Amino acid sequence: MLLEPTVNALVDPDFDAKSDVFRMDGDIQRPDGVYVDGTFGRGGHSRLLLSRLGPDARLVVFDKDPTAIQAAIELQAGDPRVMVVHGGFASMQEELKALSLTQVDGIMLDLGISSPQIDDAERGFSFMREGPLDMRMDTTRGVTAAQWLAQAGVEEIKEVIAKYGEERFAFKIAKAIAARRESRPLHTTLDLAELVASVVRTREKGQHPATRTFQALRIHINEELEELARALAAALRLLAPGGRLAVISFHSLEDRMVKQCIMAARRRSEAQARLPILEKDLPQPILKALGKVLPTTQEAADNPRARSAVLRVAQRTEAALPFGDTASFVNAIRLVPQPESRQTRRRR
Ligand SMILES: C[S@@+](CC[C@H](N)C(=O)[O-])C[C@H]1O[C@@H](n2cnc3c(N)ncnc32)[C@H](O)[C@@H]1O
Repeated sequence: MLLEPTVNALVDPDFDAKSDVFRMDGDIQRPDGVYVDGTFGRGGHSRLLLSRLGPDARLVVFDKDPTAIQAAIELQAGDPRVMVVHGGFASMQEELKALSLTQVDGIMLDLGISSPQIDDAERGFSFMREGPLDMRMDTTRGVTAAQWLAQAGVEEIKEVIAKYGEERFAFKIAKAIAARRESRPLHTTLDLAELVASVVRTREKGQHPATRTFQALRIHINEELEELARALAAALRLLAPGGRLAVISFHSLEDRMVKQCIMAARRRSEAQARLPILEKDLPQPILKALGKVLPTTQEAADNPRARSAVLRVAQRTEAALPFGDTASFVNAIRLVPQPESRQTRRRR
């Protein structure tokens, strides 16, 4: 999805988000830099990127999913430029350091879950397929959705569904979950989908009533927004001057975070704005926004998931990070909408 513009954003010095035609092979010199694919999946983006990179380039790929990592290891076997990390992209700075890499020329993130994950009923991501209510991207660790729903308080469930699903009927759904588990635990995807459908109607035409609840639980179980916030902060520290960041998001919560992070890194902080310093003497923006790209009409027609996709691209400027290595003025983690219960727990 958005394959060519994403790869083009990383390798074409003249990348233009407004253009309908992206310069591809042959027109662009193949760079030999260091690149990161934070969301390998089945490697569609990685393969295209590798075809545009020089023989001495490095591509470090991450995925939480063990099956995706298996596919990455197979790709690595035939291409020595590939380095594979099983883990969350939030830790990219630490993982790259362990590989003796401190700066990168491009980072791409294609957020959310992959089609193979949705299609495999055993993963529990789909309300259309009967399977265990799991929803973990990394099946080797963490708590499943069924385990979490069995012990979380009604208020906590409500907040997760309201904030991460932007679901108006979150309280009704949370109460129904709590009432239901008194008699029988929720074990499967259809247990949950049918329960939600029995208490709320969908607002959106053609959408299952449980769509928002499933999205919310998936985001919570995989800490998707925290991962994204940490990755955005890491990207600011890792990108070399001129390095590019390309992020594809699929819902407004993610896209808002990416947009706000790019805007925050372009602006002066409030504290700086109050200082009696001339504009030209202030720390310069550390990111330059290069625009956003939406799927083509054809892509959206071929793949319903593509309809909500947004690619945002930014370029690291020459300016030094304003506060040493911390980039704390961006403090991307603050952009994550936190359920109250989690905030309270963190404050304690
Ligand atoms: C939309 S798919 C990516 C598809 C990929 N671009 C391709 O061409 O095949 C998202 C992938 O990212 C992984 N993922 C999502 N969040 C992650 C995170 N925080 N850290 C590492 N991997 C993540 C998922 O397991 C999934 O395999």
